[in-house]
Amino acid sequence: MESVVKINGLTKVFKRKKAVDDVSFSINSGEVVAILGPNGAGKTTTMLMMLGLLTPTTGKSTLFNQDAREKTVRERIGVMLQEVSLMDGLKVKEIIRLFRSYYPNPISMGQLISLTGLTEEDLNKRTEKLSGGQKRRVGFALALAGNPDLLFFDEPTVGMDITSRKVFWETVRELANQGKSIIFSTHYLQEADDIADRIILFNKGTIIADGKPEDIKRRLSKQSVSFIATKDIPLENVLQLLHVSNVYVQGGRTFIVTDETDSILFSIFKHKWDVKDIRIEKGRLEEAFEQLTEEREEI
Ligand SMILES: Nc1ncnc2c1ncn2[C@@H]1O[C@H](COP(=O)(O)OP(=O)(O)OP(=O)(O)O)[C@@H](O)[C@H]1O
Ligand SMILES: [Mg+2]
Repeated sequence: MESVVKINGLTKVFKRKKAVDDVSFSINSGEVVAILGPNGAGKTTTMLMMLGLLTPTTGKSTLFNQDAREKTVRERIGVMLQEVSLMDGLKVKEIIRLFRSYYPNPISMGQLISLTGLTEEDLNKRTEKLSGGQKRRVGFALALAGNPDLLFFDEPTVGMDITSRKVFWETVRELANQGKSIIFSTHYLQEADDIADRIILFNKGTIIADGKPEDIKRRLSKQSVSFIATKDIPLENVLQLLHVSNVYVQGGRTFIVTDETDSILFSIFKHKWDVKDIRIEKGRLEEAFEQLTEEREEI
């Protein structure tokens, strides 16, 4: 499979701040990848380096095995940055026409309109008169103008209302179905989970997890089996069991923290522990995500 992005040991230091610290990964053609992480994690900085818009302090980044600044690469990528800035004084349709003219195989105007949901009214507006959300939609259209193979979206849905958000993600899915590779950053775990085939989780400039959403979720969500022990249970032995990461007693209940609740239930029955009122707690994902990104040393 062709790799569309390869970054190796990418590091960016701003004055004394290490924004990105020795990050490496590669992305294959057709993948939809979410770069997930809290504010200041280094998502934008990494993306800008991938795009050749920011020079890394050390490390290397290529797109389609070439320098991102090559014209042949530029023609194959589409980008929507965190801050969409458009040229004032032009009508939306004029700026789109201009962008399409830069590319050898631009997307048809009809297709662009159907993908982005821009209306006739939007197309005739001057860019400086657009609302924040409308600007984003035009930014999206400009990213698609060249009918690119690889798309970058930095926090694409910030400032979009629920409907626009929904339409945007439906379109992204459609683009993915057409075989395009898509990389987007977000700080919403849910968004990453819903859309991406793969999540690269950033925190404090480094990658703390990289994998399928299910795997990341399993790692993030602290599930537990809890019960009331009617006779003493040897907690230190429980801690030795496979899949058990922690055991504690709280409010008269024993909690066994695990990534495999089924296996804990099996142990309870196998060892015939004297327990009652067994409960399975699946754990709140968002909460676990916050914990993981706040307390890195725990991993
Ligand atoms: N031009 C710059 N000069 C100095 N520091 C910078 C610069 N750009 C980014 N930083 C710092 O680098 C770190 C990473 O920033 P970055 O914008 O990459 O984070 P992010 O993950 O995109 O965050 P957000 O979710 O808020 O967009 C932050 O601490 C930020 O303050
Ligand atoms: Mg950012």
